[in-house]
Amino acid sequence: MEINGYKIIEHEYDVVIVGAGGAGLRATLGMATSGLSTACITKVFPTRSHTVAAQGGMSAALGNMGEDSWQWHMYDTVKGSDWLGDQDAIEYMCREAATAVIELEHFGVPFSRTDDGKIYQRPFGGMTTHNGEGVAQRTCAAADRTGHAILHTLYQQSLKHKAEFFIEYFATDLLMEEGACKGVMAWDLTTGELHCFRGHQVVLATGGSGRVFFSATSAHTCTGDGSAMVLRAGLPLQDMEFVQFHPTGVYGAGVLITEGVRGEGGYLTNATGERFMERYAPNAKDLASRDVVSRAMTMEINEGRGVGADKDHIYLNLQHLGIDIINERLPGIAESARIFAGVDVTKDPIPVLPTVHYNMGGIPTNYHGEVVTLEGNNPDATVSGLMAIGEAACVSVHGANRLGSNSLLDIIVFGRAAAIRATELIAPNTPHLPLKNGIFEAVLSRFDRTRNASGEHSTASIRDNMQRTMQQYAAVFRTGETMRKGAKKMQEIFDSFKQVGITDRGMQWNTDLLETLELENLLVQAQTIIKGALQREESRGGHAREDFPDRDDENWMKHTLAWVDKKGAVSFNSRPVHMYTLTDDCDVIPPKKRVY
Ligand code: FUM
Repeated sequence: MEINGYKIIEHEYDVVIVGAGGAGLRATLGMATSGLSTACITKVFPTRSHTVAAQGGMSAALGNMGEDSWQWHMYDTVKGSDWLGDQDAIEYMCREAATAVIELEHFGVPFSRTDDGKIYQRPFGGMTTHNGEGVAQRTCAAADRTGHAILHTLYQQSLKHKAEFFIEYFATDLLMEEGACKGVMAWDLTTGELHCFRGHQVVLATGGSGRVFFSATSAHTCTGDGSAMVLRAGLPLQDMEFVQFHPTGVYGAGVLITEGVRGEGGYLTNATGERFMERYAPNAKDLASRDVVSRAMTMEINEGRGVGADKDHIYLNLQHLGIDIINERLPGIAESARIFAGVDVTKDPIPVLPTVHYNMGGIPTNYHGEVVTLEGNNPDATVSGLMAIGEAACVSVHGANRLGSNSLLDIIVFGRAAAIRATELIAPNTPHLPLKNGIFEAVLSRFDRTRNASGEHSTASIRDNMQRTMQQYAAVFRTGETMRKGAKKMQEIFDSFKQVGITDRGMQWNTDLLETLELENLLVQAQTIIKGALQREESRGGHAREDFPDRDDENWMKHTLAWVDKKGAVSFNSRPVHMYTLTDDCDVIPPKKRVY
């Protein structure tokens, strides 16, 4: 078919997955093995997806290295979420964790081993036994390259089961008809052709939008493309104000140094050599949850006890672990520290700084991966034909703060859950009804407008403005005054995109156009983050307001829903937190003050 001068190649599948990180590949594999015709479209080669950067591991209460139970894991996750997590979804995740890990092992993931051959598990922040009393060794690791190992295994398995991959295709927009998703448009970066993929379910597994910020552990490809497509389709994002800062990004470069370092016995020190986490979290110390550690580091720096010439960072020490442990369990971060900080970790500490790492918010879904929206009086109304999983989604199992190693778990459990649900919903090879006229016009006109944009601002300059503004005004500590300034600046930056100009008008490997479309995606999400943070007048999890220092359960124990219009204006509503469980095997965990 040809529309407005663009030829569109059409494809029909039972399911179309957008994104080939851990969530996308787990869903792809599950759907392909269930007999559904399965397409996976991805803007990067699958094994280059950002999951490859996940280091420390995947939580599951296997109990290989000490007592453990999924109920304790659930308790930690609810508490870690600062009571914004949905307890039905958290129960599902923690309960399914062991099965999900063992399946990965059987698929071929080369986990590290204990002396008696079991999967090796390390301690991670916030992971405890007996509801906070002991330290759990719950994080299943393949040295410090766990994401890498998972990604390669799932890609190989998906190929074996005949899933079809469309690699280096950039998904531009959802094809929506009367509120239902009918497919997705994508641009083949290599040939320059446009493609329409029809699917009875479109599954967005497009990752987070860390690149809204200047310093992030996220790859440069983490531009939240699926979340922006959802906003353009008139659907909301949830809880976007909750952004996680990982305590240990390499100072200057932002590259991740796994929390597994502290799990293996590493610790943080300030300018006086003090192990300051003992003051902030006397029990959990360096293994307190990430929001707590990031805030403590920031306070040390703000109070003049940072290290380095400008006293603006902190040291992470692992010299005492010895070369054998480092080589066996932390080889990847030894290499990262050498390359990005020039440090030999067997001799010197690594200079680190809290760095943007994860979006707790995203596309709202239920625990089957189905996208939900607010419809009439129903806060759990599903959007026909649309699913979201992984960091792109907000299930919400992480609430206001994610525990380390719950992300690899989330992507595998909910990638798998989406496959199970799709298999229930779709009979293989069900024919697609023809699309209504006019469905492509808006999608193509946005694409064409951007391709021919000839304004005065370069993509790089607008992106740089956005990233620096967000870094400064939506930081670890936030106040109404600074965020109001930040929101005003962000609106100006959003408006400046109308005057963006690109120089390459081609269709093949036009990275100028690609980066501009990605920037447009980032801009809408930046609006939801800073304006969402401004309207949430409390402190909870990763959202720490100096002007509202307490958690306010009476007014704010609810999920934010945010819609963005074409002018960048954000409107808000809310959904209740699910304070109920799926079964009687666990109790609802009532809100209480967090103590570390
Ligand atoms: O520190 C890390 O290895 C990161 C893990 C995570 O974000 O789950």
